[in-house]
Amino acid sequence: MMSPGAQSLAFLLTIALLVLCAQKYEAHVTLENGLKSKVYLSPKITQRPGSVSNKFYYDIEFPTGHIAVKSFDAEVVDEAGNPVSLQETYLHHWIAVRYYYLKGVKNAKYNVSLGFQQSDFILAGNAGMCDHSLPEIFGFGSETRKTLTDVPDPYGIEVGNPLKVPAGYEERWMFNIHAIDTRGAVDAMGCTECRCDLYNVTEDEHGRPLKPNYVGGLYCCYDGTQCKVKNGLESVIRNLYLKYTVKWVDWSDSIVPVNVYIFDVTDTWQHTGIHDCLIEYDIEKYTNGGASNDFTSTTRSSVKFPIDGDVIYGVGHQHSGGIGSALYGEDGRVICSSKPIYGKGNDAGNEAGYIVGMSTCYPKPGSVKIIKGETLTLESNYSSKKSHTGVMGLFYILVSDSSLESNTIHEESTVPIIFWGIGVFGLAICAAVLVAYQSRLHNKDGYLSIVT
Ligand SMILES: *[C@@H]1O[C@H](CO)[C@@H](O)[C@H](O)[C@H]1NC(C)=O
Ligand SMILES: *[C@@H]1O[C@H](CO)[C@@H](O)[C@H](O)[C@H]1NC(C)=O
Ligand SMILES: *[C@@H]1O[C@H](CO)[C@@H](O)[C@H](O)[C@H]1NC(C)=O
Repeated sequence: MMSPGAQSLAFLLTIALLVLCAQKYEAHVTLENGLKSKVYLSPKITQRPGSVSNKFYYDIEFPTGHIAVKSFDAEVVDEAGNPVSLQETYLHHWIAVRYYYLKGVKNAKYNVSLGFQQSDFILAGNAGMCDHSLPEIFGFGSETRKTLTDVPDPYGIEVGNPLKVPAGYEERWMFNIHAIDTRGAVDAMGCTECRCDLYNVTEDEHGRPLKPNYVGGLYCCYDGTQCKVKNGLESVIRNLYLKYTVKWVDWSDSIVPVNVYIFDVTDTWQHTGIHDCLIEYDIEKYTNGGASNDFTSTTRSSVKFPIDGDVIYGVGHQHSGGIGSALYGEDGRVICSSKPIYGKGNDAGNEAGYIVGMSTCYPKPGSVKIIKGETLTLESNYSSKKSHTGVMGLFYILVSDSSLESNTIHEESTVPIIFWGIGVFGLAICAAVLVAYQSRLHNKDGYLSIVT
């Protein structure tokens, strides 16, 4: 028979166990050092030969809680889970955007013409540099399979901090996935470069006529458009998914947060004073490479960087024809140089003619610093042996804010009162267990044994 004291103790322990165990079940794998990993599938993307899907998917699955994201990888797979070749489905881009959603509002949809600053949605974009475009925290294109995304220790991209979510809202994530089916295409590369003639498009998505000199780009390969396929081609419909793998650790004081900054070589800031990022540009074909026979088309843009920081990671984004990009400091030092990796065969991840990866930079922390107000220059090189439409020159860096780092060292650790409460409660349980245990020993053997 249990004594009334032991019964209430058992009750307390049961409650404590229930509290510990009631945390939401998630089918993730915990790797070493508390690193967790989970694989997700996006909503279904339905395609037929030549079709374009460029959709927004709201409230996608994402790890919950206050965490530090350590990597975010993705690839397109079919219904059986097999990787799909870029030669069949060209992944133009996927971006994952964080937003705050007004609780209790049902089925509110993002209105493209209103942008993100709507009462139901608040965009929680990255730290810069573009004003109205490129708000993503994560995102790549065809290079996604062979591009490293790991954030090295002790850094992490902070997600799910309840103190950063406006009252009445909850944090959510959305995808924009742009995939172009090129099975049976008359000109697969032309389809991937969104050439207007191949799509028979003369007006944009909203019915506005295209500028006369606009020959290719996103305005011609919007959702629902159709690229030219060979005559008599059987229209095989198939369903695809973006499979994405997120790795994370639970947030703790030992993690140093990093901010996402995205630079765009088409940013007009130098000339307009605003960060109007046009996202795309064209490469004109050189008829001859001049005396040096150089077929390199170089584009540059400069912007002022807003904070003092340490660069932790860097990677460029280019389209086919790209031959390298780099971000330079005001004194000309290389902050990060990133080169495309071209495929050489037919397998998914190694498709000839396509960019299947971008090289990344992992500078030794503290070795690459940017000063507040420093003018940075992005350079994007393309081969001009052929003309290209709708190319991009983006650069993504993760920066740890130096001013925050020094603050952290001097700051006293402040533990919210609730945690003290839980801590004291836990101590009380431990003390009670110890007392009960010791008194049992007393009762049984008549002396106190000290457990070593
Ligand atoms: C989006 O906002 C515009 C401007 O207020 C409005 O005219 C349009 O009807 C809205 N579209 C949807 C789908 O709600
Ligand atoms: C191209 O679009 C026009 C209307 O915009 C249409 O009349 C024509 O049939 C289309 N051509 C093809 C090949 O689909
Ligand atoms: C871009 O091309 C120019 C001219 O060939 C070269 O000097 C520069 O180093 C290249 N930049 C990158 C990032 O590859």
